[in-house]
Parts: sequence; structure tokens; C-alpha cells
Amino acid sequence: MAQRVFSGVQPTADSIHIGNYLGAVKGMLRLQEECECIYSVVDYHAITVPYEPARLPGRVLSVATDYLAAGLDPNKSALMVQSDVPEHVELAWLLGVAVPVAKLRQLPTYKDKRARTGNTNVGLLCYPLLMAADILIYKAELVPVGRDQLPHIEITREIARLFNNTFGETFPEPQGRVNAAAVVPGLDGGGAMSKSVPGSFIALSDPPEEIRQKLSRAVTDPARQRRRDPGEPARCNIYTIHGFYTPEATCQALAQGCRAGEIGCLECKRTLADEMIADLAPLQARRAELLAHPDTVRDVLREGARRVRPLAQVTVAEVRAKMGLVGVARTT
Ligand code: TYM
Repeated sequence: MAQRVFSGVQPTADSIHIGNYLGAVKGMLRLQEECECIYSVVDYHAITVPYEPARLPGRVLSVATDYLAAGLDPNKSALMVQSDVPEHVELAWLLGVAVPVAKLRQLPTYKDKRARTGNTNVGLLCYPLLMAADILIYKAELVPVGRDQLPHIEITREIARLFNNTFGETFPEPQGRVNAAAVVPGLDGGGAMSKSVPGSFIALSDPPEEIRQKLSRAVTDPARQRRRDPGEPARCNIYTIHGFYTPEATCQALAQGCRAGEIGCLECKRTLADEMIADLAPLQARRAELLAHPDTVRDVLREGARRVRPLAQVTVAEVRAKMGLVGVARTT
């Protein structure tokens, strides 16, 4: 039987960025040829950071549009909105009783978000429980993600083990899968490209002029003040991003020119902008076409939820029964 795959993207911005696309979505789409894939717009997760409720529905639709424009084929993969299958939340609650609070507190993503936003709501702490529920509710075996998500997959595996040991064999232990672009660096010279760091990302929806502008402002090797200063591509985020877009021979020529102080950063950025704009053009054309037909996107999401919700209901019923939660009034 084909392996079951689950992954999700949060609707925390109007469009996903090239880090999400190269680091996760491209890998998800490769798997749809040989696996049974369920991909989600995880809106319950997106509300764990401050947000505007009125903008959320538009963002959900936008991220679903990004998935489809990137190549998600609804005849092969199910695309669904997390809150259309509310059983995810019930399972998160049920799994939570098996997880010590200290385990959740120590996760790097919780610590980072808390440090960055000062936000300490219970939802943010329980984010990994909901993520574990997303995966385990479909008994998924494979989870394509960027590297920052591996600690969440690890805790999902631990939760599956804890649950199986306490209540009997129920869940497989899922494997995370990262690809060569597991960390796409930001344009701000810091760490990974991130939706929550303004100036660090290029969105899939950015028009060519905006891509050129963002790249022209991007931080490069700090040792290069003038064109003649010899640079070190290994210290430069722009050079790393070249690796995802630019042919190998051009990358080598750029590296050589940078080390010899013969190619300026602006010239190097212009080459990257040309490659990136050409690469994104077909995706952006499909995106524009889909944006003009939002009902098509809504239909895909409706059909996705219709296909997967029964699977989620079966798992939750199994878990409730194993935990002794049979109730008295339930008929299904
Ligand atoms: P989100 O929306 O923050 O990120 C979506 C995916 O993009 C990857 N990613 C990156 N990859 C490489 N370089 C980057 N700079 C970069 N930035 C983001 C993330 O690793 C992720 O794979 N918690 C998840 C959402 C989620 C989920 C799930 C994923 C909820 N439930 C169940 C898998 C399975 C997240 O961080 O989304």
C-alpha cells in the first residue's frame, strides 16, 4: 500500500515565501506521485500568534492557492483546511494527557517565538500537540518539512510511543523528510527566511520589481564594503540562495569573481533576480489564474475535507474507545 504522507503550512501571511516553497512545498509535491498525500492549511496553528480575524479567511484561501499554483494536483493529493476537520483539536487534547509540560517548554520553536514576541499563550505551548495530532490522526508515516520542524516530528514520535505503551498499539511513528533546501536563509543576513521577520523573505506573490528591490537591499558578506574587497561566498546568504536557482557553472563563476573582488554584490544579486524571476514566472501565472477563480480553490478544499474527515473520525473513535471515553449519548 502507498505510504501516507501529511504536511501543513500556516496561513500567517498573504502568500508563502520561497523558504516554505523550496524547503517544504516542493518536497511535498514530489511525493504526490508515489504516496497518498494529505496537505493542509493549518489555520488552528496560525492563531497561536497575534493575528487579525478578518484577514484569516483570505490568507487561508491564498495559501491554498499557493499550493495549487506550485503544482498540487487535487486528483492525486487531498488539500484541506485544518479547521474543516475539527477532530484534529479533539485528538490534540487526548494526546496531551500523555505529555509532560516540560517537554513542550523545551522545544526550540516555542522558546524562539516566546523570546521574539513575548507571547506565552497556552495555544503556543500546545502547538506541538496539535501538530502531532495533525499527523497521527491520519496515521501518516512520512512528513516532508523544513529543518526547523524536525524537533516537532521527534516529539510526535515520542507521543506516538507514549500513547501506544499506555493505551495499546495505535499509531505508527512518522518520519520527517527534509531536502537539500531544508534551510533557506533570509535576506536580512540573519538565520532562516521567516514570515515573521520583515525584510527577510521573498513571497511567491512578489512581482518581479519587488523581487529585484528586496534582493538589492539584501545583506551580503559583511567583509565586502567595496567591489574590490575579496569576499567569501560561504558567509553570504545570497550565494546560498543562488544554489537553489542558478546553474552550477554560473555559481562557480560568481564565487570566483567574489573571492577575487572582480564581481560586485549588485551584479551578483541581479543574476539571482533574473534566475528567480524566470523560475517563479510559470507559478505566478497559474497563481493569477487561480486568484481569478477563487471558487475553484474553495471546491478543492471542500472536496479535500470531505475525503479525509472520515479517516480522522475513525482514528478519534478508536482513541476515545481505548481511553475509555465511550460517553452515553453518542450515536456515531
Ligand atoms: P510554517 O507555515 O511555518 O512553515 C511551512 C513549512 O515551510 C518550512 N520552512 C522553511 N524551510 C526552509 N527554509 C526556511 N527558511 C523555511 N521556513 C519555513 C517549514 O519547516 C515547514 O515545513 N509547524 C508547521 C506547520 C504544521 C505542520 C503540521 C507541518 C502544522 N502541522 C503537521 C507538518 C506536519 C510550520 O512551521 O509551518
